[in-house]
Amino acid sequence: MPWFAPIVWDGTFDITILDEQFRNTTIGLTVFAVKKYVVFLQVFLETAEQYFMVGHRVIYYVFTDRPVDVPTVALRPGWQIVVLQAQSYPRWQDVSMGRMEMISELCKGRLLGEVQYLVCLDVDMKFRDYVGVEILSPLFGTLHRGFYTAKRQSFTYKRRPQSQAFIPEDEGDFYYTGGIFGGLVPEVRQLTANCHQAMLADRDQDIEAVWHDESYLNKYLLYHKPTKVLFPRVPLG
Ligand code: GAL
Repeated sequence: MPWFAPIVWDGTFDITILDEQFRNTTIGLTVFAVKKYVVFLQVFLETAEQYFMVGHRVIYYVFTDRPVDVPTVALRPGWQIVVLQAQSYPRWQDVSMGRMEMISELCKGRLLGEVQYLVCLDVDMKFRDYVGVEILSPLFGTLHRGFYTAKRQSFTYKRRPQSQAFIPEDEGDFYYTGGIFGGLVPEVRQLTANCHQAMLADRDQDIEAVWHDESYLNKYLLYHKPTKVLFPRVPLG
């Protein structure tokens, strides 16, 4: 069943109109730099400063277990970095999945009133070009770059019926990446709380979904359709 969410990539929008529409919007960006992943922060933040939400106001929420290692990066006027204590688990799978709980707690607490939209990103990425308000929507997901031409049968959904993340072979719209999603704060709160609860329920049964939080995100977005879908930008040439 189509649900008419726009699929967005370069050339599908007029940034001048959108910049005006989102003029008084403050955007939160969550990123997790736990254990050795702290090394990615410098480039992540520096390139975000260059390319992310230029002309708008951003608050970075950096979750880390190593606050002293958070680099000092020159921020644009009015921009802010909030460093928050992240839970560090021995297994990277738990670090990855734990993000859902920490984001949902953040959405319940200080975020309310501080930002309108939240963008949740992986830290081991860098910006290579402008990413602006064209990505914002009440609930947005991003097509995984490995699967946007693939048939749904080959999507790496969780296929075990006992799992909360289970998606049968004949269901599924897209395969979304766990590394880029977001939306309005109440929507992100619902998404992350729901995924966290699903992960807890699976853990009680000794089940862990094949791609961790990404599997639960895919399940959530199947039944709570995103209002915008971001297309993975493929470098030319
Ligand atoms: C890989 C990626 C993983 C996961 C997987 C899904 O390319 O590295 O993080 O997204 O695809 O099949």
